This record gives sequence, structure tokens and C-alpha cells, in this order.
Amino acid sequence: MKKITVIYWSGTGNTQKMADAVAQGVAETGVDVKVLPVDKASKDDVLNADAVAFGCPAMGDEVLEETEMEPFIKALEGEDLSTIPLVLFGSYDWGDGQWMREWVARMNAQGAKLVEEGLITQNTPDKSILVKCREIGVKLASATV
Ligand SMILES: Cc1cc2nc3c(=O)[nH]c(=O)nc-3n(C[C@H](O)[C@H](O)[C@H](O)COP(=O)(O)O)c2cc1C
Repeated sequence: MKKITVIYWSGTGNTQKMADAVAQGVAETGVDVKVLPVDKASKDDVLNADAVAFGCPAMGDEVLEETEMEPFIKALEGEDLSTIPLVLFGSYDWGDGQWMREWVARMNAQGAKLVEEGLITQNTPDKSILVKCREIGVKLASATV
């Protein structure tokens, strides 16, 4: 049975809404999906999954959240992510998406198999973004075939 993990950090719930919508898209395809806040996730939740979605808002000065998400992503450096289809998403406010561009570049440099450019939204995701999140979930599920 295929399984997909959605791992996210969210301080005020915006990225969490995106995570739930990505998971909903996966679930609609019949693929098993687990949604985990990053403090409840382990490396095995990534390495044993058929595909993974990571969500994190822009924090600090255009960086990943530094106490939980950044160490989690850092710990995956050196792991072979080339066989695990991956998507990145997250919310921001006043910036221009720099944190996501850098996150995408970082994962690409590590040989990750991104199935889509990072999906970003300013503050609370509106209906159209939630639809995109669901579509990304569907795409991620089909990328595991
Ligand atoms: C400490 C802190 C740092 C932030 N840094 C940035 C930033 O560098 N660039 C940006 O566009 N937004 C920044 N934001 C805004 C958040 O990314 C934005 O509020 C986002 O919607 C939060 O998502 P969440 O609800 O999933 O936590 C920051 C917010 C906080 C609280």
C-alpha cells in the first residue's frame, strides 16, 4: 500500500491549512496519507514514504522556522531523496517568496525529486490556493506510481 507523508510547521495555522488541503488531495486518490506537525515526525516518516510534502512558512529573515523545521530538513542532508517525489509549500507575509526559492534550490541541490515548484501563499490561503494544494496532493499521489 502506497503511503504519503505531509510534514509541516505552522505557527498561526496558515501553512497547516495548506497541509490539510494537500492531504485531502492525496486522500481523494485513495492513497494512504499521514499529516504530521514536524515535532511529531521522524526521518523514517520521510525515508519510508512513497512521496512527501513539506510545509513551512517564511520565518526569521526569509528562512525556515529555526527550532524545529530547519533542523529536520538539515538532518535529511546526505540522505538519498532522489526516489521520493517531493513538494514544498508554505505561507509568507511581507516578503517576495525568497525563503521558498532558496528552499527549492536547496532541495534540488540535494538531488530531491520535486514534482512542482514550491507553492506559496500570502497569509491565509484562499479558496483558489486550497484548490491548488489539493491538486498538488493528487499530483504527488500520481507521482508515486
Ligand atoms: C518571527 C516571524 C518571522 C517572519 N519572517 C517572515 C519573512 O522573513 N518573510 C515573510 O514574507 N514573512 C515572514 N513572516 C510572516 C509569516 O511567514 C506569515 O505570517 C505566515 O502566514 C505564517 O504562517 P503560519 O500561519 O503557517 O505560521 C514572519 C512571521 C513571524 C512570526
